[in-house]
Amino acid sequence: MISQQFLDELLSKNDIVSVVSSYILLKRVGGDFVALCPFHNEKTASFHVYPQSDSFYCFGCETGGSIITFVQKIENLSYIDAVRFLAQKSKMSFFEDDKENSKFFKKNEIFRVNREAAKFFYSSLYTKEGSNALLYLKSRGVNEKAIRHFGIGYSDSSKFSLCNHLFKSGFEEEILKESGLVFNNKTASLSDRFLNRIMFPIIDLNGNVIGFGGRSINDSYPKYLNTKETLVFKKGTNLFSLNFAKKTKENFLILTEGYMDVISLFQLGFENIIATLGTALTFFQSRLLSKYTNNVVIAYDNDEAGQRATDRAISFLRNEGIFVKVLKLEKEKDPDEFVQTYKEQAVYRFSKLIKEAKSDIEYRLQKIKNSISDNSDNEIIYLQKAIKVLCSIKNKMEREIWAKRLSSEFGIDKKTIIHQIELKEVKQKKKSFKEEIKNIKVSLSGRNDIVNKEKAKFLKAASAEELLISYIIHHFEDVDIIFKKISSRDFCTNFNARVMKCIEDFVKQRKMSQNITIHDFQNNFSVSEIGRIAKFFASDISKKDSIVNAFNYIDVVFSEKMRERIFKSDFSEVDTIKDYINVLKRCKK
Ligand code: CTP
Ligand code: MN
Repeated sequence: MISQQFLDELLSKNDIVSVVSSYILLKRVGGDFVALCPFHNEKTASFHVYPQSDSFYCFGCETGGSIITFVQKIENLSYIDAVRFLAQKSKMSFFEDDKENSKFFKKNEIFRVNREAAKFFYSSLYTKEGSNALLYLKSRGVNEKAIRHFGIGYSDSSKFSLCNHLFKSGFEEEILKESGLVFNNKTASLSDRFLNRIMFPIIDLNGNVIGFGGRSINDSYPKYLNTKETLVFKKGTNLFSLNFAKKTKENFLILTEGYMDVISLFQLGFENIIATLGTALTFFQSRLLSKYTNNVVIAYDNDEAGQRATDRAISFLRNEGIFVKVLKLEKEKDPDEFVQTYKEQAVYRFSKLIKEAKSDIEYRLQKIKNSISDNSDNEIIYLQKAIKVLCSIKNKMEREIWAKRLSSEFGIDKKTIIHQIELKEVKQKKKSFKEEIKNIKVSLSGRNDIVNKEKAKFLKAASAEELLISYIIHHFEDVDIIFKKISSRDFCTNFNARVMKCIEDFVKQRKMSQNITIHDFQNNFSVSEIGRIAKFFASDISKKDSIVNAFNYIDVVFSEKMRERIFKSDFSEVDTIKDYINVLKRCKK
């Protein structure tokens, strides 16, 4: 158990706004903060942080809670481990019990294993077994400086080199397996996962080695073998070399596909290069990038897969408000091949390609043009498709510029083009509005409510209970008056009754006239339940609600509860029915 005193100190040392802003960009709106939600993909910000109640809530995906819930969600930790995480951040000494079950300790151990392995791989390059690997790197033009900079190494062909080394370094079998570097082979002995491969360490933004990519040097399959998912490594959440590139003085980053692209360009002196490592850019990665730059140049492979990946990256990056350009290689397969082809001319030529890179809009328009034959009848098809592209531009000025270009290219009034874009936009808005209404209806019906499963059955009561709870939270000075009239036992739905009970217990134990906070619920509710409670704290309507309405909610809860009893009863309980009629009369008034 964590003591209240410890928690109080922890919470006083970690303020929700600064912790959340170390992950995402918060914008101040009045006394609160809003942002694009880090937990789901969205175009408009529905993620709110409320410093006053020390809570956050996303109206889009209904994630919410306290600063501890936030750390739990974003770092994928248990409650206790999130507390440990925050304690470490604020340099508080923390409890070490239950270490074996702690993801927090395990994560730290895996980082240590990975670091030791990276050192071992690096030194193996310079042993007799590593000589072929070193030759391979040389043959691909990788120099000593790059090897050192990226910590490139070699995993040799013996099945136990790394295992033995890590055991000697004092690590336990359990943690070695969890690092993904070793596994139990068929004969149940531990063996190395990476054999005879060039090893590229993948480093996160805190400098931790989170995983490895291993390239075969003898054409064995697969060409690249990567660390499988572990507690610290999840595909699509990091970017190779962002730990270096984030320090660049350039105001843009270049996004490539692979390790070798980054390394070859680094050798030319470019430090602002990152790679997605073969997977399509995810929304997490684009969100991460938006923290470091407003400008990205995409330099993916020069093939169809590369083009598809480019289209996807454009849409994700634009969504984050990043200006995107697309670099076009002539005939070379990827930036690495470009560098090898042009040798000493490569710096100059690649810089030129960067300068000539087209904006995402231009790239998309060009692509449409290429797909339509040069025929005057096709002008209208092109224009229609172009309007759709321009519709994705949110910035009015940028939109005007493109409308002007189209206007002069086709001799059409600029106003007509803008008008067409706006018509299309209205149509799209209507569609998304309809979608939103549909979602709201489902949510109001309680049909898909996973937190309060009885909501659909007792819709009226549940809604009144929610309004009442929100009212109490926002008007805690009235809590005693309300508890004179109703208690958690009068509630119809179990979840809301539990929330109410928690408030009752708080009031019984509180010192002076303390207000309840999100932290007072933390011990008794799951993460998704805390999300719902955060919604109560986030409710703007309740702030302006009146005690008269609160009394009405109470009446509704009572009448619904009685209705339920009457339907269940055999109509012999005359008194109950009389009571019910009385309550109904009060409700009508
Ligand atoms: N990749 C991977 N698994 C594979 C193939 C590729 O994880 N089986 C990732 C690697 O990160 C690789 C990137 O996708 O760097 C791009 O793949 P590809 O273009 O095939 O490799 P190159 O980077 O060109 O590698 P090389 O030059 O060594 O052939
Ligand atoms: Mn490639």
